[in-house]
Amino acid sequence: MSTSVSNGYSSTAQTHAGYEPEGPHRSIAVPVHSTTAYAAESFQQLKDLFARKRDGYAYSRSGNPTTCVLERRVAELEGGIGAIAVASGQAAVAVGVLGLLTPGDHLVAATRLYGGTVEFFDDSLADFGATWTGADPWDLEAVAAAFTDRTRVLFVESIANPGAQLADIAALAEIAHARDAVLVVDNTVASPALLRPGALGADVVIHSATKYLGGHGAALAGIVVDTGRFDPRRCPQLFPRITGHNERFGVTFADEYERGGSGYLAYARAKYLTDFGASLPAASASLLLTGIETLDLRMDRICASTAHLAAALREHPLVTRVHHPSSPGRPDAHIARRDFPRGTSGVFAIDLAGGEKAAEAFLDALELITLAVNIGDSRSLAVHPGSTTHCHLTPAQLAACGVTEGTVRLSIGLEDPADLLADLEQALSAAAAVAVSEPAPSPEVSTVGA
Ligand SMILES: Cc1ncc(COP(=O)(O)O)c(C=O)c1O
Repeated sequence: MSTSVSNGYSSTAQTHAGYEPEGPHRSIAVPVHSTTAYAAESFQQLKDLFARKRDGYAYSRSGNPTTCVLERRVAELEGGIGAIAVASGQAAVAVGVLGLLTPGDHLVAATRLYGGTVEFFDDSLADFGATWTGADPWDLEAVAAAFTDRTRVLFVESIANPGAQLADIAALAEIAHARDAVLVVDNTVASPALLRPGALGADVVIHSATKYLGGHGAALAGIVVDTGRFDPRRCPQLFPRITGHNERFGVTFADEYERGGSGYLAYARAKYLTDFGASLPAASASLLLTGIETLDLRMDRICASTAHLAAALREHPLVTRVHHPSSPGRPDAHIARRDFPRGTSGVFAIDLAGGEKAAEAFLDALELITLAVNIGDSRSLAVHPGSTTHCHLTPAQLAACGVTEGTVRLSIGLEDPADLLADLEQALSAAAAVAVSEPAPSPEVSTVGA
């Protein structure tokens, strides 16, 4: 029985891609190479490695055999030509984006993003000398209008955290490519089991592998995947750090494309992984590989439970809005039908009448669902984004994300949905005691058709 879906995703790659049993022991599980360095065969071999004249491992900050299997496996799951594994999703955003920019460049990003990404764009990216403009990804004209002649990157989340708003990747790719920019998609919430952005035109895919790829909440990790669509040699003057000769490393990273690799990833790895040192430990890579083996099974269960709970919560009098693509009037319902045949993952949000006080009472009353700032865990989690994950955003940025004082984010795990519903209902009863009546929220709007 094949479990591949129309986007080309294959469950076989979850357990096999990027690794063949080898060596004297032929271990079936990927060995955990918990080592900092690799004994050189000779002076000349190590010299050649540092001069980038041969491939191999010298020091685990820039490469490790276990981590390398994870890179190959996720690259294949996303249908890409290569990947870099890093220490966290935040590092993946930083390394992935900085690898495409030259100081003075500009980035257009969706207004609905994980709070840490917004903070990186607002603060550290500015220190690097790059600027950004936010645009509503449902308003394609606004996205196009936000571009300048220095825009090199368009950055979106395929399923936005926390409101589960879906991005039209194919339309956004068209906008980016017409302006010689790179479409970078944070595919953390969807995972490749639900959506492969590369198949819809995205150039780079980023993951906080901490979430659904791992699926167990036991390891932080991030991945940057090159889908193979971006070739900076088509407009070398726009990406000079990849296409020009690099004095420090003595190479032109774009030459990597001649060998079937990614010049972009080679540059990002040599420069940012090495300089920032955000390397993924082999033990974490091993945990991630184990998690990935069950990715599509988990996602099917999570999608079904989430759709069931979102529908049930819509009926509750204390819940003024359910932020989920299945909610009536959502402008992304057509994207869900067209691009997400398996479902739209396990993250969604609810707004409670009674604002922060009601959210506090609700979260403190939960017994099975854990109050914790993570998503994609096998256990269901809940959090108040306004005071945690999105607490440094401006009121305008919060409004753009759809986060109000009464918003609670849920990340549905693998428990029995009946147990989850019972817990949600008893916590809502506790919150009802403190809730005060609030004006009904206005519907979400978009210029994109049905
Ligand atoms: C969509 C998204 N991208 C990136 C990140 C950052 O990932 P990490 O926490 O692994 O650094 C998160 C974290 O919640 C996220 O939700």
